[in-house]
Parts: sequence; C-alpha cells; structure tokens
Amino acid sequence: MTVSARGETLAFPGGFVWGAATAAYQIEGAARDDGRGPSIWDTFSHTPGRTAGGHTGDEACDHYHRYVGDVRMMAELGLGAYRFSVAWPRIQPSGSGPANAAGLDFYDRLVDELLAADIAPYVTLYHWDLPQALEDLGGWTNRDTAYRFADYTRAVHDRLGDRVGTWMTINEPWVAAVLGYGIGVHAPGRASAAEAFRASHHLLLAHGLGARVLREAGAREIALTLNLAPVITPGQVSDPDLVPSAEDAEAVNRVDCLINRQFLDPALRGSYPEPVLAIMDRVGGLGHIRDGDLEAINQPVDLLGINYYTPCVVRSEPGEPSNAAYPGTEDILFSGAHAPTTAMGWAIVPTGLSQLLTRLSRDYPEVGLLVTENGAAFDDVVTGDQVHDTDRTAFFEGHLRAAHAAIEAGSDLRGFLVWSLLDNFEWAEGYDKRFGIVHVDFETQRRLPKDSALWYREVIRHNGLHRERVRRPTLEAVAARAGVSRSTVSRVINGEDTVSDEFRAIVLNAVNELGYVPNSAARSLVTRRTDSIALVVSDSPSEAHADDPLFSAIVRSATRYLEEAGKRVTLMLADSAEGRLRVERYAASGHLDGVVLNSTLSSDPLPAALARTGIPVVSLGRPAVSVPSSYADIDNAGGAASAVRHLLARGRRRIAAIAGPPDTIAAQDRLRGYREALRDTGHRSIIAVGDLTLASGADAMRQLLRDDPALDAVFVAGDLMAIGALRVLSESGRRVPDDVAIAGFDDIEAASHTVPALTTVRAPRADQARAAVRLLLRQIDGGPASSTILPTELVIREST
Ligand code: FCB
Repeated sequence: MTVSARGETLAFPGGFVWGAATAAYQIEGAARDDGRGPSIWDTFSHTPGRTAGGHTGDEACDHYHRYVGDVRMMAELGLGAYRFSVAWPRIQPSGSGPANAAGLDFYDRLVDELLAADIAPYVTLYHWDLPQALEDLGGWTNRDTAYRFADYTRAVHDRLGDRVGTWMTINEPWVAAVLGYGIGVHAPGRASAAEAFRASHHLLLAHGLGARVLREAGAREIALTLNLAPVITPGQVSDPDLVPSAEDAEAVNRVDCLINRQFLDPALRGSYPEPVLAIMDRVGGLGHIRDGDLEAINQPVDLLGINYYTPCVVRSEPGEPSNAAYPGTEDILFSGAHAPTTAMGWAIVPTGLSQLLTRLSRDYPEVGLLVTENGAAFDDVVTGDQVHDTDRTAFFEGHLRAAHAAIEAGSDLRGFLVWSLLDNFEWAEGYDKRFGIVHVDFETQRRLPKDSALWYREVIRHNGLHRERVRRPTLEAVAARAGVSRSTVSRVINGEDTVSDEFRAIVLNAVNELGYVPNSAARSLVTRRTDSIALVVSDSPSEAHADDPLFSAIVRSATRYLEEAGKRVTLMLADSAEGRLRVERYAASGHLDGVVLNSTLSSDPLPAALARTGIPVVSLGRPAVSVPSSYADIDNAGGAASAVRHLLARGRRRIAAIAGPPDTIAAQDRLRGYREALRDTGHRSIIAVGDLTLASGADAMRQLLRDDPALDAVFVAGDLMAIGALRVLSESGRRVPDDVAIAGFDDIEAASHTVPALTTVRAPRADQARAAVRLLLRQIDGGPASSTILPTELVIREST
C-alpha cells in the first residue's frame, strides 16, 4: 500500500474502506416485530428517569421497515461498507435455544440489499442489547452468558456467513461493563466495581468463544471493536510530544491499563496487564478468571476495530479519590482538555487519533486496524432542506488528516467508518444528541443528508481529502514579477485607489501571468477582514425553529444574500447559556466581520453582550429598547393597526385581540398597534394571549368567547393561532365573517387555504433579510449603524 499526495488530494491507500456505522437498538425500532424479545435496553429505557426525556428505542429511525430506502441513500453517498449490528433478541428472543427465523430474515434481506448496492456488510454481533432473559440470570456477570453468545454467533453465521465477510464480535466491552454494571448509567443499570470487572472478563471470553466459532465456520475477517482513548496529560492536548513528569507518567499508565490494555492485552497477547490484575484482585478477587480463559480469549483476529471520540486526560493529584468508572485510580485527577468540545462535551482532539493508531501499530503489529467509529454530536439546525453542519465536517476533516498522518508514519489502517449514518437513539442521551451525517426528523422519519454527508461523498469519490493548494503562486511571487513591493500588490488586489494606473496595470499583468489567486487568509491580514459572518439564532429551541416556515425563510434569505456578497456564513445557535458564551467568545475572537442576529425575547442578554464586543451586529427584528443596536424589522405595530382599522372600517365595534407571547418584542409591538388603532375610537380592548401555536389560538378564542360573547371581530397576532381561533368559532356556531370577522398576521401559506380564507398582514421576510445584510455590510465598510423598518401589507380575504 502506498500513500501519495496526488495533485490536490491527500490520497488514502488503494482499497481503503470508506463507510458508516450504526447499531441495532439505536436505529431499528420495531421493538416487538416478528417475535423480537425484550433486551436490557428495552427494560432500561422504559424505566422512568433512565434516559433523557424518557426516550426509548421503540421506534428509533424505524430502520427495520425503512432499510431499503436507507440502503439506497448509502449507495448515493458512495459508501463502500456499512457496519450494523444484529439484535440478539431478534435471533434468540429469550437468549438461548433455536433461532427465530423471522428475526434472521430481516438481516438476510438487509445483507442482500447491501450487496445489490455494492456495499460490503460488516456485522457487529453484540452492540449492547442483551436479551433480558439472560440478564435475569445474571447478565454479563454470569459466565454462562459468554457461552450463550457463542451459540448465538453460530446461528447468525449459519444464516449470513455465505454473504458476510467481516465480523465484529463485541462492541466496546469497557462501555458495556463499566457504564452498564460499574456505574449504572447504561443498561442494565447496576453499580458495582466488582461486577464490572466480572462483566469485562466475560465479555472478553464471549469475544474469544465467538471468534473461535467464526474461524471454524470459515469467516474471512474477524474483529473485536474497542473504545480506545489515548491517555494523555493536560499539557499533551496541545503538545503531544511533551514529556510528562514521573508522577504524571504513572497516572497515565494506570488509566491506560484500565481503559485500553485491559482489553487489548488479553485479546491480542493472552494476558492481563499487572496493574489491572492488582486492582481487580483488590476490588472483588480474581475467582472469575479460570484456567484456560486467557487462551480462549486470545484468538487470532484479522482486524482491530477502533472507536475513537476523545482522549482521556489525566494527571497525578495526591489525595484525589478514585474515579467510580476507573476503580483503583486514587491520586489521579481526570481533567478536562482545553479544547473545543462537541455537544456531548467531549474535547475535539484529532491528534489523539494519530497517536492512537501509531501506538497500536507499534505495540500490536500483527493486527490490521479499522476505525469502526469516529464522529461527533452537534446542535444541528435544519435550514429549509439543508443542514449546514460545518462543525461536523471540520471534525471529520481533522480526524481524517490525523489518520492519514498515521498511515504515512507506517500505521496499518485499512478503513474508516463514520459514526453515524443516521441521527439515532444515543443511549442514555435519547434523541437529543445527533451524531448522524444524515439528519432524521423523528416525527416524520424524513432523512436529510447533512452537508457533512455530501462532503464525505466527495472524500469517498476522491479516496482522500483535498490538500491545500501547495504550489500556488504567492503574493511575494507577484511582487517580484512586477518589481513592486508586497504592499503595492495587496493594495491593488484589495481595490484600493492609492496606486497609480500605471503600477496597477503592471501588477494586474503579473497576477494574470502567474495565475495568482488571492488567498483569503493572506488578504484578511491586509484588510483586517475575515469575510466571515455569523448568523446567530438566539433564545428559541431549534426544533421549534426547524418547523417554522417563516424562520427558515428568513435564515435562507439571509444566508443567500451574505453568500452573494462573498461572505462565508456560519450558523450558530445561542439557545442556552453555553451557546451564548460560545457566540460571545467567537464574536470577540476577531474571527468574524460581523453578526446577523435573530433574537426574539426581550429578556435575551445576547444583543447587549454582542454590542459590548464592538463588532458590527444587525438584528433581524427590533431588539429590546435598552440595547443600542442596528436592526431591520417589519412594521409590526403598523401592520397590526392596519388590520384593526380595516375591521373598524367593516363596521366592527367589539374587536378582541389574541396576542403572541408577551416576552417577545414582535408580539409587544403588534399588541401596541392593536391598542393604538382602538384608542382613537374609544372602543375598549379585550385581550387573550397565545404562544403562536394553533392550539393556543384555539384556547385563547374560547376564553374570549366566554369573556365577551358579543364580540364581533378578532385580530390575531399570528396566522397559526388565527387558524386555531377559526376552528373554535366554527365549533361554537359563529359564522365568519357574518358574526365574527377575523384577521391574522404573517400570511403563511396556510392562510389562503382556510375556509373562509384568512385576511392577514403580509410581512416581507426576504426583504427584511436583505435589508439586514445591507445594513451589516455597510457597517463593516465603516458606515454608520442605522436601522430600517419595512412596511407590511394587508391582504384582504373572505374572513373579514
Ligand atoms: C460509542 C457507541 C455508539 C455510539 C457512540 C456515540 O461508544 O459504540 O453506539 O453511542 O459511542
């Protein structure tokens, strides 16, 4: 295998495997279909308080019924391999005995579908969904479970072995044992260090017995998949070559033995590391390790599967008590890394992967390496039908560069599988943590490839990454060719008019001759511009926004206008204290030219905080009065007033209002417009409040009818609420508009389809976005901070 830097790509070896991974319980759903028995994850997730939001895998991505479409999508992304796990409880619903043919059928169909799409099936036999019946007999603390696993392995291989070449026995025995039996945050939820060590050993034994079954049955490639983490000191996060103190080195070694070598050594060398035996002995004795076990565990394997997410950062700290997940780690401090983190809070350290791969090839040279999982959860935002997950792409790019570096240094890495193909049930974190390169809308089960998936497709197509153009001509080269200074060249390139026409012509000539392309980084040094803009969405849950057509329209337009102006746009969420801090830090870091801010709550602290950083900020919508800031808004008050005046002109006298959430500025302005329009007429105001949803509009309408059964018109500060109100009016027998006229706000698509069609106030959202972008660009160019309010238009339909 050779690695070459072909032209512009950082090429991976020929035959390098590109793929994606998933696990049964995380995606399949269909928890009771075709005779599937319960697993420990069904029990655990259905136990109140165990998973975030009480989420379960009952439906997950419904992959069990949607696998055909999912495989088609994999083919479109160009995947060469797909690693999935078989659910033991589908094959043996009660953990032992004859195989359930219907359960095997599903994987049979899946494998055929994959092969037809030219995707190699990589089968994981155990990804944590132990049949509950076996747990009732002691689960992994019971030695017998390892033998049951060997039987189950045989049953699966009997059915799929003619078509599946690559087999993984156990996924991450450390996690299964320690999180499941040691600290109880995963199924089955037990918390005993002694039980965790027993479980680890039996999981290893299961691996060995299973590997033997597979070997005897003629499997082509057999692997064990481990969660491996380079153990490093805080100083090594940024400087991997730093030599630690003797005390720190001892701390590193002890933790490395527990998390990595406790599994690597028995499986690949046939022995436990001494420090592990000592700790195990102290915690619960060594009685569970029987003669012959280590030989049984140490089966020849073809591949070591590596799941890498983040390093383990430790240092010596006398007096520190032992960490519950790492028994025997007295006097060791597990510290965070000073590095950016993912939504899981895991530090992003790509060099950890090259370190790990290099070390494995050095210490265990006989086994080939495969990254079976690498990936990241971020708070994705769906923009129309796109997900611009730049953080995730950057994560993969960094880790692939690290993998490439390790290959160049001699590591025998054969492939890379991203975690994960789909957003899925992230165990105790439920559905909130999204790891997919494909977005899943869990309401509709719609799949949407994120930008990272499209990027990955290109990586696969090129068998590598685009390398920075190394040989492109530099600014210095242009200066030398033209016989002028660097500063003259940059002034010409940046369009400054301080260079004479004669020199300008000479410079441009040299630029053309050399084919010079201005490098944005170099240019930003000169212009002090980064050409980066953050589009910040503040104070609203992303899910609500994702479904809100007005919101996506505004984000889409703002992005488009900024990109047309040559700016790079980063979409950032600031709906938590942490998110706000990230935005503030980023804004203050000098990496941004400006911010377009979508903030709706009057109490949002972000506008004021951003104003303090001094960088240009334009808000989409008027910010709270206390913040001196530039904004582009629509005329909320004027729009509301025009609707109310229209109702008055139609002869209505008892005009009620359904207002939006009182803590949002737009709702306050619309209510003000309603009041102003009524004030001059002497009619009194009657107000109910909703939260912009249809149901809240219905509730508010019911309340208004109770408060004033004689009302003859309603102004509603949002079309969805107006639709809810319309329903209640018709339920209560009021004819619209004869008895009660009704007008909404926003002119959403549905407003023209109600019966009768809804009179409403149309807000020019795209124009608002364009105006905000213009204001921002002007400020970036040194112009004054100013604001604009765009007029709205009353669209009169049958409801008034
Ligand atoms: C690994 C698991 C996988 C997924 C990722 C985020 O530990 O193997 O199922 O949860 O972490």
